[in-house]
Amino acid sequence: MAKPVCINDFEELAKKTLQKYAYDFYASGADDELTLKENCQAYKSMPICMAPVGVQAMANTMAERASAQAAQEAETCMVLSCFSSATIEDVAIAAPNVLRWLQMYMFTDPELTKSLIKRAEDNGYKAIVFTADAIIHGRRRRDLKNQSLLVPHLRFGNVVAPKASREDYALYVKSLIEQAINWKSFLWLKSVTKLPVLIKGILTAEDAISAVQHGVDGIIVSNHGGRQLDGVPATLDALPEVVKAVEGKVAVFVDGGIRHGTDVFKALALGARAVFIGRPVLWGLAYQGKQGVSDVLDILKEEFKIAMILAGCGRLSDIRPSLIAKETSYY
Ligand code: FNR
Repeated sequence: MAKPVCINDFEELAKKTLQKYAYDFYASGADDELTLKENCQAYKSMPICMAPVGVQAMANTMAERASAQAAQEAETCMVLSCFSSATIEDVAIAAPNVLRWLQMYMFTDPELTKSLIKRAEDNGYKAIVFTADAIIHGRRRRDLKNQSLLVPHLRFGNVVAPKASREDYALYVKSLIEQAINWKSFLWLKSVTKLPVLIKGILTAEDAISAVQHGVDGIIVSNHGGRQLDGVPATLDALPEVVKAVEGKVAVFVDGGIRHGTDVFKALALGARAVFIGRPVLWGLAYQGKQGVSDVLDILKEEFKIAMILAGCGRLSDIRPSLIAKETSYY
């Protein structure tokens, strides 16, 4: 019998070795055992979620299926990119119990947009995340030098693309995304789904207020991990004005640059409901597939827990702005 390494291992072993009545006597709670479950659940609030990141097959052949399984195990939320390597359906099968949201662009073909949303609804995805800051790609010099922009063999799971040369393929992908988006596009998107719709890519109070006025269900303060418009503010700097403008009417999340548990703490202190991580998932995937992503999440969670304890916070709601300070002299 393998040596137990956590409390759940001990419980599993006790369940196997004890008489059933003895195990049940120890393990049971009152009535529907709601309080019993909630006692444990309360410690599991996991404010570190997974941002949508396309074509994960370059990092690991299991791609988004592995990330989703790690998210499921960590009991957190995963946003699947509409340009994922794995399909909407495959991810749902690989991790049936993970909280899944689908990230969408507005496609030039409204039927394609509708069909992806329908597939998400049919496969238990719980929200749509509309990315508003990537109607064209930023000019990424490293990709240009590597000539790796949209490598043709990296097919998308959800969108069937024609076989084409590298240049034609890049043009095809470009032609998929609608560039003339505005608030009408957002209202149309809302009208074709019953799922909540969040907007990702908000950086100003002005846009946050418009988003709330147009019925957004949540805001992700994001600059696409610095991949789009160079020179925009860091998301942590943009977060407070968005939180203030929204006046608690919808949840505000943030992504970009989160690499330590203390980063999570700072974002929550400035009013984010939770954070999303992008590249750290890719690094974990590249290291060891699902296990690597689990390790990344475990480390961030552990570091975050330590930050909470050392800052004297027993609950997420104890994390408040007065607990952080910002050095502004470098401006
Ligand atoms: C992204 N991001 C992204 N966002 C989105 O809405 N749809 C997408 O398909 C992708 N694809 C994508 C690919 C890669 C390689 C990266 C690095 C990022 C942006 C992502 O959701 C998130 O905003 C950032 O990655 C957050 O920053 P960090 O955590 O990577 O610093």
